[in-house]
Amino acid sequence: MAIPENFRPKILGFLCNWCSYAGADLCGTSRYQYPPSLRIIRMMCSGRMDLDFVLRALSNGNDGVFIGGCWLGECHYVTEGNYDALSVLHLAKKLLAKVGINPARIRLEWVSASQGNRFAEVVTEFTNELTTLGPLGEGEGIDPATLKLKLDAVARLLPYIKLVEREKIRVRFENKEEYAEFFDSPALNALFDTTIADKLAISQILGLLHERQRSTREIADTLNMPISEVTERLKDSSRQKLVRFDEAEKCYALA
Ligand code: FES
Repeated sequence: MAIPENFRPKILGFLCNWCSYAGADLCGTSRYQYPPSLRIIRMMCSGRMDLDFVLRALSNGNDGVFIGGCWLGECHYVTEGNYDALSVLHLAKKLLAKVGINPARIRLEWVSASQGNRFAEVVTEFTNELTTLGPLGEGEGIDPATLKLKLDAVARLLPYIKLVEREKIRVRFENKEEYAEFFDSPALNALFDTTIADKLAISQILGLLHERQRSTREIADTLNMPISEVTERLKDSSRQKLVRFDEAEKCYALA
């Protein structure tokens, strides 16, 4: 993929009021330089971060999402929301990867109120990384219509995904590394595959069939999904009477 020469990534940043937002403020008043790529939404705590915010940010034309919070152990609330932000980060990365979007497009950093220079550094680094990845969708080889379809497919499943997260995935570890290890573990991957990934595939397929009927091959090619997976998911969907096979056209359509 050739990245457009004048491409400047757009990042939506969610910053906690007490640390990262104050760090951004100090960065400005100290005149540390960083690229004009970031638009900021101030939250009281990074624990307010929600999967829905990530999807809406990407659906609305941003190329990346930045979450800024207090260092672990320094959250200003007894609930220590920055631990929850780590879970949201990792789950969002898994969901994005599953629909073919580069998980590096979401990033979380701890920045204290006194770290204006660090704020400039991490935003510059993230901007450079996104510049290398290219525009959202284009960088992944996904056309705009399919990108929208994929993000909508995740958004439709969010209430269910949040339920699974609350019931089966919610964890509390001591540090960033332990979160990364847990979310990358075979046990978590198996749980993700059996509870979320199959439904995510079906959600994408149904979204595509909502436009018009298609063959298995066409669905696989459009969604960049292995044909074996599409076949399996279509069988599941037929059993649930969500789709039907049109013998004459040799295509699947919504039931
Ligand atoms: Fe900053 Fe909770 S107040 S992360």
